[in-house]
Order: sequence, then structure tokens, then C-alpha cells
Amino acid sequence: MSIQLGSIAPDFVQDSTAGTIRFHEWAGGSWVILFSHPKDFTPVCTTELGTVGKLRAQFEKRDVKVIALSVDGVESHREWVKDIEETQDAKIGYPILADVDRKVSTLYGMIHPEASDTLTVRSVFVIDPKKKVRATITYPASTGRNFDEILRLVDSLQLTDSHSVATPANWKDGGDVVIVPSLQDPKVLAEKFPKGFEAVKPYLRVTPQPNR
Ligand code: BEZ
Repeated sequence: MSIQLGSIAPDFVQDSTAGTIRFHEWAGGSWVILFSHPKDFTPVCTTELGTVGKLRAQFEKRDVKVIALSVDGVESHREWVKDIEETQDAKIGYPILADVDRKVSTLYGMIHPEASDTLTVRSVFVIDPKKKVRATITYPASTGRNFDEILRLVDSLQLTDSHSVATPANWKDGGDVVIVPSLQDPKVLAEKFPKGFEAVKPYLRVTPQPNR
């Protein structure tokens, strides 16, 4: 059964470039992005891991810990990291899991046999501080991911957790948001949205981002 939104991210113990990772302990009380890539020493993966390295400050700002995974070993990862840092002008300041026995990739359903029997697809799991899986993304080996979109997703999750809003299509931090349909009490609406809102339709109520 695939991992579903709202379920607890499975715990595991696995080797990594930063030593043994006990996943739940390592995550602590932070948000986590766990992402798999198909293979070391491949072009798209090289750009992806470099991009994530360069976004370190952006992840830290959101209290997100990042951890990568592939089914290659620690020594391979360490050699490859040298290439990534050399070619991508980036520091890889996050661990890469060495899932040689496919323990984690099997647990998380990162191997899709119709795509490849042996390599992981490009999976992303966004996990919240309570260890709940809040979003998943799956891309094929041929398409590098957009990590700005993953940051945008985290922004949306963090905002909507703390306010009675949802974020519309192509929303970016600072843009207008929509009020959740379940909120109907005029008194509560006035308290929560002192800047007011526009009811384009009764179910489509647009308001400035409340924490701005
Ligand atoms: C890549 O990262 O470039 C890649 C990895 C596996 C298959 C195809 C491309």
C-alpha cells in the first residue's frame, strides 16, 4: 500500500554520508523533505542535488531538514558529492542515504518496477514536525524537479496550518489566498480577516495573506 497523506512517515535506520540515520530521531521537531534520485554520477541528479545544496538558507528559514536517497553506497555518494560541489558551485550540507539494501526505498514505495526494477524514481515526501506525511510528489528519471515549487509547497502547508485559508493556483508567498469554505460565522470572519475579503462567489472568498 502506498504511503498516504496524513499517515506517519515510516521510521527507519539506514547508513548515510553523515553516518547512521535514525530517521525519526534525526528529524526531531522539524519539517523534513525526503527525496530520492535514481543514481549517482548521472546528469539530472547532479543538478538536482546541487540545486538543493544552494537552497540551504531557504530550507533553514522554513525549519526544513533535507535528506536525499539513492540505492548507491556511501563511498559512491562521497565521491559523487565532490563532483557535484565542483560542477554546481554548491555545498552539499545534507545527508544522502545509502539505500543499497533498498530498505527505505521499499518502505516508501520509491521503486516503481514498470519504470525501473532497480532504481528509485524521483520521489519527494514532505513530512511535518509531528512526522505526518503532508505531501508527496513523483517524477520520472528523465525530468529534474523544480525545488522552488517544493519550497512554495512548504510555504503553503505552513501558512494553511496556522490560518483558515487555502492557497490558490500558482500562489506564491505574499499573494492573495482563499478562505476555507467551512468558515461561515461573520464574527469569526471579521476577527480572522480584519483586512476584509472579496466574495467573488459565496464559495470563492479572496483575502490578502493574513500573516503579512
Ligand atoms: C539523470 O539523473 O540524469 C538520470 C538518471 C537515471 C536515468 C536517466 C537520467
